[in-house]
Amino acid sequence: MAFQHTKILVTQELPYEVEKRLQRDFDAILNHGEALTQEQILSKAETVEGLIVTVTDRIDAALIRALPDRIKIIANFGVGTEHIDMEAARKSGILVTNTPGVLTEATADIALLLLLGAARRAGEGHVLVRDNAWRGWTPTSMIGHDVTGKRLGIVGMGRIGQAVARRAQAFSMEIHYHNRHRLLPVKEKGALYHGTLEDLLTRSDFLSLHTALTPHTRGLLNGCTLSLLPRGAIVINTARGDLVDDDALIAALKSGQVAAAGLDVFSGEPHIHTGYARLDNVFLLPHLGSATSGTRMAMGFCALENLDAFFTGHKPPHLVS
Ligand code: DGY
Repeated sequence: MAFQHTKILVTQELPYEVEKRLQRDFDAILNHGEALTQEQILSKAETVEGLIVTVTDRIDAALIRALPDRIKIIANFGVGTEHIDMEAARKSGILVTNTPGVLTEATADIALLLLLGAARRAGEGHVLVRDNAWRGWTPTSMIGHDVTGKRLGIVGMGRIGQAVARRAQAFSMEIHYHNRHRLLPVKEKGALYHGTLEDLLTRSDFLSLHTALTPHTRGLLNGCTLSLLPRGAIVINTARGDLVDDDALIAALKSGQVAAAGLDVFSGEPHIHTGYARLDNVFLLPHLGSATSGTRMAMGFCALENLDAFFTGHKPPHLVS
């Protein structure tokens, strides 16, 4: 499909193949520099009809209200849309789309990497070897936590939660989950449903977060909920940093209530709570969940699919609101 007269603003550099296709099909304004500020987005948006934004752009109500009337679609490069004010978009008659499905497997891989890395002290071990500080194998050094046979609690059993469960079952973990709705047995695949978060927490040797960030889930893991975990549980987060109260998690990591944490996402990232840097029992990654070439390309093509549908007068396949 070609819309060479349709101007699209892209706020951040996208994979080469995606930008090629964008340039072929649209009059694309690309950005190969720093992430755009809100002022820059507004000034560049003056002549465009659609935006491709990413999960790090803050598309708040004031920005949406200031966009030209001609813009009726915001295609998000990413699945999470908490950075876009949906209510303001709806009021301005702007459709918002996202890229679900295509990043499921890559994100689930990172959740397992964190789970294993946190349990088996991979971060500490890596630093020890790299810094030439390793004094050799001993029966009692660098002792971690078993994974096999342990209970994994999954908060949010959507696509990614289910993909994590499949992988963890290969490690003989027992899967427990909490979700708004119980899954059909064909999707549950033997996982045990808990009707409340509190109930799930009390059964979770490992806890992995896979729920969207909403006003309801913000700070879901806090001093109170962390205290419900069995002592020595391990916490994994590949969803959103703001699901976790950092002060509370850091206190739990210090006290031993939480034995270790594997985190790929952070509140206020890339500026993370300084408390994490002082802890050995954390395994930290810089928001790598979807960071494979195949996945990032698929996300871009998914955003383009949404734009194609919209500009040919159809309902975009991945409409959020
Ligand atoms: C998303 O799509 O929301 C992810 O966080 C990007 O990795």
